[in-house]
Amino acid sequence: MKHFLTLKDLTPAELKLLIQRAVELKKLQQHGEIYQPLKGKVLAMIFEKSSTRTRVSFESAMIQFGGGSIFLSPDDTQLGRGEPLEDSARVISSMVDAVMIRTFAHSKIETFAKYSSVPVINALTDEYHPCQLLADMQTYQEHRGDIRGKKVVWIGDGNNMCHSYINAAEQFGFTLNIATPEGYEPDSAIVEASKADVHLFNDPKAAAQGVDLVVTDVWASMGQEEEQRKREQAFAGFQVDQGIMDLANKEALFMHCLPAHRGEEVSAEVIDGPQSVVWDEAENRLHAQKALLEFLIGE
Ligand code: CP
Ligand code: NVA
Repeated sequence: MKHFLTLKDLTPAELKLLIQRAVELKKLQQHGEIYQPLKGKVLAMIFEKSSTRTRVSFESAMIQFGGGSIFLSPDDTQLGRGEPLEDSARVISSMVDAVMIRTFAHSKIETFAKYSSVPVINALTDEYHPCQLLADMQTYQEHRGDIRGKKVVWIGDGNNMCHSYINAAEQFGFTLNIATPEGYEPDSAIVEASKADVHLFNDPKAAAQGVDLVVTDVWASMGQEEEQRKREQAFAGFQVDQGIMDLANKEALFMHCLPAHRGEEVSAEVIDGPQSVVWDEAENRLHAQKALLEFLIGE
């Protein structure tokens, strides 16, 4: 049994196959073919934070695959009333085939996985967002081919998405420039543990020179709402605008996991412009997670 808590839970070869499979599953779907490898299987989905894409993609994936899903929020389960995570993990996993969790501390999902008898999928923690990276890697593959050897710039907060990009740089073999304001760098332990070619900058313009992919995310993540003002000041000068895109390669793509704030981390011109692939990126959450579910709980 395998869990998917970070991109490092799969080998580079497994990840490569998964992306290829996601591309195939997308074609099946687009051709209207019914494919139901998860008939009778159930995915429990625990959401301790809000979601649009993650919930709709996992739920649709399970329905299209012939299975079902159960949405669980702490507000109306015993999880919100203090039932120990260890007990909840034992009980929930005894009744379903996989559990997807979106929560705060990454240690919570690790604890859940330790006591779960079925695969656990990380649907975002404060530290990582590996499912989003599957969709991003699929999207790059579809638009530009293999990302191996390419150069990516992350501009903005050294957050959960940034950490998953660090993992992706290692697993998929690309160079990663990270431009953050001082004090908002990614976790140094994650950077140091990475075998990838990662370079830290405090100047987004220097970091964006000649890259093949420009990626950003919100300045204040879920759980940091009260820091919004302070962060707007700290991140001034870190907006991905056309000036930044013009420093990248001509063929460079723009990605954002969404939800986005136009006029903050990205200009409307860029996110709604010709280099942006954010709608494909969002749709690919469905296809990439279908490949993941098939890999983890298919026959
Ligand atoms: N990108 C992403 O995970 O979106 P949601 O928060 O809407 O699920
Ligand atoms: N970094 C963002 C990603 C949202 C999908 C957050 O954690 O809120």
